[in-house]
Amino acid sequence: MFYTFAARRQITPAPSFTMDLKSQINKEKLPRHIAIIMDGNGRWAKQQGLPRVEGHRNGVVAVREASEAAAELGVEYLTLYAFSTENWARPETEVNALMALLVETIQNEIKTLNDNNIRLRAIGDIENMPPHTREALQWAINETAKNSGMNLVLALNYSARWELVEAARKLARQAASGLLDPQSINDEVFANALSTTGMPDPELLIRTSGEKRISNFLLWQIAYGELCFLPIMWPEFRKEHLYQAIIDYQHRERRFGKTSEQL
Ligand code: IPE
Ligand code: IPE
Ligand code: MG
Repeated sequence: MFYTFAARRQITPAPSFTMDLKSQINKEKLPRHIAIIMDGNGRWAKQQGLPRVEGHRNGVVAVREASEAAAELGVEYLTLYAFSTENWARPETEVNALMALLVETIQNEIKTLNDNNIRLRAIGDIENMPPHTREALQWAINETAKNSGMNLVLALNYSARWELVEAARKLARQAASGLLDPQSINDEVFANALSTTGMPDPELLIRTSGEKRISNFLLWQIAYGELCFLPIMWPEFRKEHLYQAIIDYQHRERRFGKTSEQL
């Protein structure tokens, strides 16, 4: 009852309710890696009669909620899709606002990251980001490099096809120079040529905004990922939404091609 009210009014439910959901999570079956397509900032802003950039600004609160909730639970990797290679096609004013917001957020959140022992990382074509953004990102990555808790991975100037093509190029170069036997390329070798090398595949992929598509995100890595599409806009995302998605994930049967009886 309270949940319906809270969802409609877009307010964070009372702590007791949040606690209740959190206690339903099976700590033994926690996903090691959760990936999120943070979508719906623009539509949220439009609903409020605000410019799109205000949606991005309000999305920062949701980033903090998701990161804190995942870190508190003991999730090892949280990957957030923050900017795709296709997002450059947006109006220049929006792209510039997003880059400025990124730098501002990184600088403002560094203390929270360190207080929570979170290590910041990035995947994507970072070298081709604007210099100011790249420098701020690199600074924050260095500042948090010694943290041993959750890895917060920002997918920036990222697309899965870009990543797959890069991996193909890398392996082809090694093969052409005689360092790699093409016959030795298998799942593991290929995965190690991706930007997510060393990370477990995300067991759970969440997308907000109600859109049911992947939009060029982690295509290789989500081969057996469980998908969760939430009808809320990203600025509305709170800890309880992450708890709910994890509970939903934990009630699914992951068969990996086998039959139920074999599990
Ligand atoms: C997600 O929200 C943020 C980015 C893609 C950078 P959108 O900006 O895509 O918001 P909608 O989907 O237009 O509502
Ligand atoms: C996906 O959202 C990219 C990010 C969340 C960064 P988009 O809003 O760009 O995706 P489409 O265009 O609706 O598929
Ligand atoms: Mg969108």
